[in-house]
Amino acid sequence: MQAFVLVAALAALVPATAAAGPVDTPGFTKAFSCSACHGSAGAARADAVPILAGMPAWYLKKAIDDYASGRRPSPEMEPFSKMVTTLGVDDVAAYFATQKREASPIKLDRAAIASGRTAATQCAGCHGQDGRGDQAKGTPPLAGQPAGYLLNQMKLFKADKRSPGDANLTALKALMKGVDDPTLANLAAYYASLGR
Ligand code: HEC
Ligand code: HEC
Repeated sequence: MQAFVLVAALAALVPATAAAGPVDTPGFTKAFSCSACHGSAGAARADAVPILAGMPAWYLKKAIDDYASGRRPSPEMEPFSKMVTTLGVDDVAAYFATQKREASPIKLDRAAIASGRTAATQCAGCHGQDGRGDQAKGTPPLAGQPAGYLLNQMKLFKADKRSPGDANLTALKALMKGVDDPTLANLAAYYASLGR
């Protein structure tokens, strides 16, 4: 009886036309565990973690698949990729693809951006103008990602530690081997600065 009264009282408190909250957004619940590292709605604020907000669904799914299978080694991402593959990666990918991208607050060096812009002519053929990415070439957008994350990935490619031995990435890795680390840092600053 008491329980009934409580339920009735609660029902009276909740308006019949309750507004939709974030958990009503498809994919929100499945994507919730990602926010611990990737920030609220995929808007990562840390320099070492990629921003997921606005990431094309095809690329997010490919990355999850690569981590889950161990092809792209990452102690952080392997367990979460396996989990999200079981939960359903399509909803999670669609959720992040539709989140609004917010500019990263991390400061960038102007001289590094200018040098990086010059060096980036060798990247545009695959990553498109302004680092927008090109699904036909399998390239993700680089624009607006944190410089620390971009630089780290370039160094992993250079050392063949990201997706080691992947035949599709031979040309990219050969290119990275020919670029010195200070230039890689400039490239990272340039791509991070785009879309801000
Ligand atoms: C424990 C922290 C942590 C959690 C939780 C986490 N991630 Fe990550 N994520 C990372 C780190 C660190 C990287 C960069 C790893 C690397 O070097 O490849 C990353 C990379 C990624 C990438 C690759 C992006 C790119 O540009 O290639 C995707 C996609 C991704 N995470 C999606 C997710 C999703 C979806 C979830 C939730 C199911 C999730 N992550 C949960 C830490 C985390
Ligand atoms: C031959 C084509 C090609 C060229 C040229 C190329 N890339 Fe890429 N790049 C790729 C592909 C393909 C991927 C996706 C790899 C994957 O799926 O794991 C990639 C991924 C990346 C990533 C990882 C992004 C992320 O979200 O994890 C960075 C950073 C990157 N490239 C930087 C560069 C820079 C800087 C240049 C120029 C110096 C460059 N690339 C030139 C093909 C290329």
